[in-house]
Amino acid sequence: MRRDTIAIHGHGYHDLEHGAVIVPIYQTAIFEHFDREGKLRTTDRGTDLKYSREENPTVRALEKLLAKLDSGEDSLCFSSGMSAITTLFMGLLNQGSKILITEEVYGTTLQLIMDLRKFGIEVHTVYPDTSCIIEKIDKNYDLIFIETMTNPTLKVIDVREVAKVCKEEGLVLAVDNTFVTPILYRPLEDNVDIVIHSMTKYIAGHNDVIAGVLVSSKDTIIKLWDWRRKLGNIISPFDAFMALRGVKTLGIRVKKHCTNAQAVAEFLKEHPKVNEVLYPGLPDSPYHEVARKLFNNNLYGGVVSFRIRGGKEEAIRVMKSVRIIRSAPSLGGPESLLTYPIISASKFMDSELRKRLGITENLLRLSVGLEDVNDIIDDLDDALRNI
Ligand SMILES: Cc1ncc(COP(=O)(O)O)c(C=O)c1O
Repeated sequence: MRRDTIAIHGHGYHDLEHGAVIVPIYQTAIFEHFDREGKLRTTDRGTDLKYSREENPTVRALEKLLAKLDSGEDSLCFSSGMSAITTLFMGLLNQGSKILITEEVYGTTLQLIMDLRKFGIEVHTVYPDTSCIIEKIDKNYDLIFIETMTNPTLKVIDVREVAKVCKEEGLVLAVDNTFVTPILYRPLEDNVDIVIHSMTKYIAGHNDVIAGVLVSSKDTIIKLWDWRRKLGNIISPFDAFMALRGVKTLGIRVKKHCTNAQAVAEFLKEHPKVNEVLYPGLPDSPYHEVARKLFNNNLYGGVVSFRIRGGKEEAIRVMKSVRIIRSAPSLGGPESLLTYPIISASKFMDSELRKRLGITENLLRLSVGLEDVNDIIDDLDDALRNI
């Protein structure tokens, strides 16, 4: 099956009794221990099917689909992207473990790992640049954690190169691929060990679900399955159903997000009220070549960041002036969303770090939606004329 087909049929679910075409919502906490033949009910991964904190058929259908979509052996779905990341850290790190993490990762991920230092985990950070990461890698790390494309400055890491070094050194590499999606790039095909997505973004895709997923080998997933069971952070059957519904159109949505974003980036680049546009799809972006190498079909993601002429006051004025675009956090849904990083995901970052990463007071981040791109551009133009 090709990717667009996997997104629709990859769950492999067949309702033998009623022939339902759509995976039903198994809104049940419990399952009878024994089937009609008197055998204990188990799932295809050998775990018991008895209690929805552990396994649920709607969730399982989504997991099978997402594993195939990302070229993994299996996956685990969670109540949020942060639940997925928490489970990864709890499952893979021990007292005294050493983790290397890029200093520009989703803000809450960084806060979480920093807070986990209280359990004796040693955290080392590195500037989000391929050669800086490779230079810092050594055999003593128990986990390397990076994002394919960073937020909000959209730096693209050459995951393929980082994975090669990790493989040589026998290190575990986890990659948050939320901004990029399996449509553009699948890190597991480049020997990455674990892929993470906040499904809240492109995968569920409609700004109406909070969810997360880990995709990996069977062995890693079964180990983390046990942590999900203990942490109790499985996705609900209803949210799994919503994600199954949303993911069907992932391919066409991502393509449209990307082509809209490319047009918006090109428009902003010429705008007199914009100083700089950060978008790997622009040929003069320092990340264009690596993105072109890794991502499929000359598509570069649906998020565009830009620096306006002015400072905090002007940035807030733009946020308040947009009419079709909504001023809200998150990304990856049909609605275009404008975010001001210094009051959002980068709010708790210290000012030195912000400066080093280029998260300035005039930086705005736009998740380009699925509206007619001319309406997005007109809206931005009107809002920028207010400064
Ligand atoms: C790159 C990235 N990873 C993880 C998360 C956390 O996901 P969630 O909000 O679904 O918990 C986010 C949320 O914005 C994100 O942008």
